[in-house]
Amino acid sequence: FLLFLSPPAWSRSGIDTDIFGQVLQEAHSLFAANTEGANADYIPELAKVDAALFGLALVTADGKVYTAGDAEHVFTIQSVSKPFTAALVMREHGDAKVIAEKIGLEPTGLPFNSVLALELLKARSVNPLVNAGAIAAVSLILADTPDQGFDKIKGFYETLAGEELDVVEEVYRSEASTNQGNRAIAYLLHRYDRIYADPMESVDVYTKQCSIGVNARQLAIMGATLANGGINPVSKQQVLDAEYVPRILALMLTAGFYDESGAWAFNVGLPAKTGVGGGILAVAPAKLAVAAFSPRLNQSGNSIRAMRAIAYVSQRLGLGLF
Ligand code: DON
Repeated sequence: FLLFLSPPAWSRSGIDTDIFGQVLQEAHSLFAANTEGANADYIPELAKVDAALFGLALVTADGKVYTAGDAEHVFTIQSVSKPFTAALVMREHGDAKVIAEKIGLEPTGLPFNSVLALELLKARSVNPLVNAGAIAAVSLILADTPDQGFDKIKGFYETLAGEELDVVEEVYRSEASTNQGNRAIAYLLHRYDRIYADPMESVDVYTKQCSIGVNARQLAIMGATLANGGINPVSKQQVLDAEYVPRILALMLTAGFYDESGAWAFNVGLPAKTGVGGGILAVAPAKLAVAAFSPRLNQSGNSIRAMRAIAYVSQRLGLGLF
């Protein structure tokens, strides 16, 4: 699905900042008419989101912000939240090893909500970017009450974005009343001693976390904070210790696209994370982050247009790591 058009801008002319906005506009125009895929509907409220919406944002590691299309439209962050909560767990426990020891690191090669993945190796085959590992990550946030845990998570995302964020209540209620699968996963984790707080409270905080609203610009700033070694390049605040950033990006590269992570690494070669709200965030370390939002998804739950737009931007700017 990739277009190989011209030599990478990075190698062609060094860092020419004007190229970023231009390439983003190109990506938007190229894929604006694409209608492949369909909205997620297993969370009923997501099926109602206008499928025509298409927003792109690029934020450089030195804080320049570029947008195209519906970059201010708020959508639910869904699974794009998962690497950030994993980062918060590392920060809270003061050690990246907590993820390795208490959750797992290996890509499952299976869908994001797979119960089989959890059963195969007695819950050790999961990682913090699939539902099971993400629910376990929430349970590792140090808090006296679920509300306090959620406030920590939201507060952390807000420092990453440099702006206040809100839960999209309709999506939260919609998922909370239809998430029997995630509740089953939490109880299975409990059975294997791989969840570290009350299972149902952990699922509820996880569901609220997934329902936090962001726009493409805010998401790109969150990603640019990773690209910039944990310092938000817009607010200049150090949000995350630099030592955790490579760990998060490694997880994103190996598991960010679920059972399509290999194909994404092969074709694009950038750490990235997708969400069923239609968002995708990709990070080019030390350079920039690109966020895209388009609600229509493929079978793996990855936004088709967002995927294509980011692949195009990466190709044009020569961002691929390999
Ligand atoms: O738990 C769920 O199913 C959703 N809250 C998030 C899943 C998701 O975003 C998968 N991503 N592509």
